[in-house]
Amino acid sequence: MKVTKAVIPAAGLGTRVLPATKSMPKEMLPIVDKPAIQYIVEEAVRSGITDILIITNRGKGLIEDHFDRVPELEARLSGSEEKRAVYHEVVDIAHLANFYFVRQKETRGLGHAVSCARSFVGNEPFAVLYGDDVIIGQDPACGQLIRAYEEFGKGVLGVKQVSPQAIQKYSSLKVEPIRDNLFHCTDMVEKPAPENVLSLYSILGRCVLTPEIFDILDRTQPGAGGEIQLTDAMRELARSSGMIAVDFTGKRYDMGNKLGIMQAQVEVALNHPQIGEEFREYLKEIAKTL
Ligand code: UTP
Repeated sequence: MKVTKAVIPAAGLGTRVLPATKSMPKEMLPIVDKPAIQYIVEEAVRSGITDILIITNRGKGLIEDHFDRVPELEARLSGSEEKRAVYHEVVDIAHLANFYFVRQKETRGLGHAVSCARSFVGNEPFAVLYGDDVIIGQDPACGQLIRAYEEFGKGVLGVKQVSPQAIQKYSSLKVEPIRDNLFHCTDMVEKPAPENVLSLYSILGRCVLTPEIFDILDRTQPGAGGEIQLTDAMRELARSSGMIAVDFTGKRYDMGNKLGIMQAQVEVALNHPQIGEEFREYLKEIAKTL
């Protein structure tokens, strides 16, 4: 079955980026001139996704507004010859995909957020793109996972190796190579203590799941941090039927922490068609003073 639906959980509290995220969702933090979540939506669309459910919560109305039309602004832009390009850019955002929104009423973790997608997903495989993980690359990461799903017919995890120091903040996967950047995954653990680390491969920001995950999530107890962890539910899938791990190509930026946000800003700005060259010169000057 083709994967055409995606879920973007964006209902976290963003406590690592306070005070910026006190009233502004971290998914709306800009990377140069687009909010993080727009990069994620564009990646999904380039991967063949047509229907996107964004999981929001109180105070995330800004996200819904961003993917809507703005008649007053559009009228102003369309009247100006020089603003015509940005007019089209603004209008096109609302038509990137069919957008749906549902609120996660309590912040009970990523697994709980995904379980809010049950009626949207129905009986189809679906992609999950974490709302604070921006991945930039020629070949969209979500599409790489969807190709693996089409080949193997099993749930798929987007993975990368992380440092031994960092693994305790992420998940750790038991993997066996299939070929190239593809692995079988038969077990996983969220935020492992040093003695429980299975490998340095960790799930970073993307997966493709089958609807059986919802029944598993319903019985998943709170885990690390007292939250219902998606990893704990996926572990059951990995142990029973196995999952596929794809060491995806593309650069991942963690918009959930301050350093990740600045790395995204700098690297995207360097390649930006309007400001890239000037920004490069500026950085070179700044670098001389470091
Ligand atoms: P994180 O654990 O990074 O989000 O979840 P957080 O809770 O906002 O992070 P802190 O407070 O800085 O530690 C990864 C993704 O899952 C979403 C987040 O919005 C983020 O995009 N999420 C997390 C939910 O939608 N609901 C939740 O209950 C938790």
